[in-house]
Amino acid sequence: MADPWRIAAMAGAIIVLGTSLAFSTAGTRPSASHPAGDAKRGEEPAQVCLTCHGATPLKYGDPPIDPPLLRGQRENYIFLALHAYGAGGRTEPTMQPFAAALDEQQMRDVAAYLAGPPKPVPTVNMAGSAGHREAIAKCGICHGETGMGEMQGMPVITGQRFEYLERALQEYRDGRRSAAAMVAVAKQTSPAEARTILRYYAAQNALEAAR
Ligand code: HEC
Ligand code: HEC
Repeated sequence: MADPWRIAAMAGAIIVLGTSLAFSTAGTRPSASHPAGDAKRGEEPAQVCLTCHGATPLKYGDPPIDPPLLRGQRENYIFLALHAYGAGGRTEPTMQPFAAALDEQQMRDVAAYLAGPPKPVPTVNMAGSAGHREAIAKCGICHGETGMGEMQGMPVITGQRFEYLERALQEYRDGRRSAAAMVAVAKQTSPAEARTILRYYAAQNALEAAR
C-alpha cells in the first residue's frame, strides 16, 4: 500500500523529532553555556514586539502581512523562529532586523516572556467538521488535533490568525521558509484544502491577544 503522502509525513516527523531533540535544551533544560530564558528580563525588550504582535495587529510589509499572535506560543519555537530569521531559514524582511537586534540570550528571554505559563489543552471547537477531519488526517501527526502540537520545537497554531497561517503555507511553497517537514506538506496540500484545515485550527482557543 504505497501512500507517498504518508511516507513523506513520516519522514518529516523523523526529521522534526531529530531537530527537536537537538534543540530541546531551549528553555527547558538550561546548561552553563546556554542558560534558560528569563521572562522577567524579557519583558522590557518584548514591548516593541507587541506593537506588531499584539491584540491589534499592525499590518506590515507590501503586500501587508498580518503578524502572528505570540502570547502563549511555545517558548522553544519562538527561540527557533528568531534564530531562523538570523540564520537564513526564514527570509521575511520585516522580521529580520528585529531578530538581528537580539543576541542569543535576549532571544531566549523574550521567548520566555512571550510564551507565558503553559496552556491547558483546549477542547475542540467545530468537532466533526470537514476541517477537523482533514486536520486529524493530514496534520495531526505533528500538530495534534487542536494544533497545540506535542513535540518540542513545534509551533502552537491553535487560535493563530487565519491570514497568517495561510500565508505561512505559501512561504513554505515558494521557498521563503525552508523547514523540510513543512515544505513537503505544503506542496502536497492545495490552497483550498489548506484553507479548510487552517480555518479549523484558527477557530480553536489558545494563543492570546496581548493587551
Ligand atoms: C514591524 C512589525 C513587527 C515587529 C516590531 C516585530 N515583528 Fe515579529 N513578525 C512580524 C511579521 C510580519 C511576521 C511574519 C513574518 C513571516 O511571515 O515570516 C513576524 C513573525 C515573527 C515570529 C514567527 C512566529 C511564527 O509563528 O512562526 C516570531 C517568533 C516573531 N515575529 C518574534 C518577534 C519578536 C521577538 C519581536 C521583538 C523583538 C518581533 N517579532 C517584532 C512583524 C513584526
Ligand atoms: C511532519 C510533521 C508535520 C506535519 C505532518 C505538518 N506540519 Fe505544519 N509544521 C511542522 C513544523 C516542524 C513546523 C515549524 C517549521 C518551521 O520552523 O518553519 C510547522 C509549521 C506550520 C505552520 C507555520 C506556523 C507558524 O506559526 O508559523 C503552519 C501554518 C502549518 N505548519 C500548517 C500545517 C498544516 C495545515 C498541515 C497539514 C496539511 C501540517 N502543518 C502538517 C510540522 C508538521
